Amino acid sequence: DLSPVERAKYVAARRAAEFVEEGMQVGLGTGSTAAWMVRRLGERVREDGLKIRGVPTSTRTAELAREVGIEVITLEEAGWLDLTIDGADEFDHALNLIKGGGGALLQEKIVATASERMIVIADAAKDVGTLGAFPLPVEVTPFGWPVTQGLVEKLLAAMDVPGRAVALRRVGERPYVTDEGNHILDLQLGRIEDPAALALALNQIPGVVENGLFIGLCTLVVIGHGDGRVELRE
Ligand code: A5P
Repeated sequence: DLSPVERAKYVAARRAAEFVEEGMQVGLGTGSTAAWMVRRLGERVREDGLKIRGVPTSTRTAELAREVGIEVITLEEAGWLDLTIDGADEFDHALNLIKGGGGALLQEKIVATASERMIVIADAAKDVGTLGAFPLPVEVTPFGWPVTQGLVEKLLAAMDVPGRAVALRRVGERPYVTDEGNHILDLQLGRIEDPAALALALNQIPGVVENGLFIGLCTLVVIGHGDGRVELRE
């Protein structure tokens, strides 16, 4: 009784959960696809006695992980991770990603970078030739955020990025606040020709904490289809 998109997320998440082995320290991603993966790992813990420790990438995921019976530890306690499994908003042929639609990009990037391996789980609609149709989230400090926005706009103009609309993410009237107490700018770019260059340049701006481009972090995408098929892309 799942919709085709939800079924695609579900089958991808279940397939990816098979990569988790006894004794592993696992980074637990954020979002609706990652939530299926966390629930599946919880099943394996409760039903098969699988012993793992999970490092969540958001307060939402931490709550869910505890609820389903996964032992939750902090990244400080873990020190390093065997594997992170997370969703994405877009992935390209080089397995570069846009993440942060759910607002958790900073913890997600720290956790993925601390992992031996990052596996992405996604429905087929997120498979794109060129990144950028999905608005790129950029986490910024609340301090001076309009100045930071101006610097981001200047950078986009200098880099000749086609779309340049930059908007502060809001919840009703108020700015959205991340788990780390920051705000998010969503960049409507259309096409990102050189994601690696843009990621580097954005992080040179002082008020930018991190951006949602994940370059060279993911080594495998588990793609789910609405009919229940699963495809692996390396
Ligand atoms: C969370 O900050 C994001 O990076 C998510 O991984 C991304 O938005 C995918 O979410 P869904 O699985 O809900 O599409």
